[in-house]
Amino acid sequence: MANRRPIIAGNWKMYKTSQEARDFALSIQEKVEDVTDLDMVVCAPFTALHILKEELEESIIHIGAQNMYHEEAGAYTGEISPMMLLDMACTYVIIGHSERREHMKENDEIIAKKVKMALDKGLVPILCVGENLSMREGGKAIGFVRGQVEKNLMDLTPTELRKVVVAYEPIWAIGTGKTASSQDAQEICAGIRTTIAGISGTVAQEIRILYGGSVKSSNIAEIMAQPDIDGALVGGASLDPQGFAELIHNAR
Ligand code: PGA
Repeated sequence: MANRRPIIAGNWKMYKTSQEARDFALSIQEKVEDVTDLDMVVCAPFTALHILKEELEESIIHIGAQNMYHEEAGAYTGEISPMMLLDMACTYVIIGHSERREHMKENDEIIAKKVKMALDKGLVPILCVGENLSMREGGKAIGFVRGQVEKNLMDLTPTELRKVVVAYEPIWAIGTGKTASSQDAQEICAGIRTTIAGISGTVAQEIRILYGGSVKSSNIAEIMAQPDIDGALVGGASLDPQGFAELIHNAR
C-alpha cells in the first residue's frame, strides 16, 4: 500500500470578499501552524486569490482556485487561464465541480481538457465526480462515477495521472447535511481507484482520493479512517477559520 499524504481542501464557493478572505487567512495560520502531516488547501474565488497570495504564499497552506479555462491565453472574455492562477501563487485548482457541471453545463469533454491543461502548466487538479440522488437510489452510483473518472482522465500519461487528486462528491450530500455512510463512500472511492488502475495500473495506489459532501469536524475522523479515502473537500465547514482548523486537527 502506497503511503499517500492526506489532503484537506476547503472550497469557499461564491463566498468571501477580499477583506473576509484576509481575515480568514490571518486567523487560520496560527491555528494550524503545527500541522505538518497533511496538505491543507484553500480554494477561493478568483477575486480573493491575490489576498491569499499576500497572506499565505509563504505559509504551509496551499492556495487553490475553483475553476479555470482550458487555454493558456486568448479571446475568451470572462475566463481565467492557468497562467493567471500560477501568477496568484495557486498550486491547486478544482475542476468539474458538480455545481459547474450543472449550472455552467460543463461536460466531460471540457473537464478532461481542463484537467490536462492544469497538469501541463503544473497545477494539481482536484477532479470532482459524483452521482445524483436518482442514480444513487437506482443503484447506478458506482457505474456512473467510474464512467466519469474514465472520461475525465483517460488521455493522461502515467506521469500526469500520478499528480491528479480525485474528489468523490455525491451531489445529494453537498450542502444538505446528509453525508454518505463511510462504507458507501469507501466503496465508491475503492471503485475510483480500480478504474484508475485500469487506465494505468502502476499509479492507482499513489493517487489521492478525497470525499466531499457535508464533511464537518464531527464526521471527518470516521471518513478518514476508510482505507481508500485520503482526505476531504470541504465546502460550508471551510468558511470559518476556527471550525476549519478544528476539522483539520480532527482529520489527523
Ligand atoms: P459541503 O460542500 O461541504 O458544503 O457539502 C462540498 C463541496 O461542494 O465541495
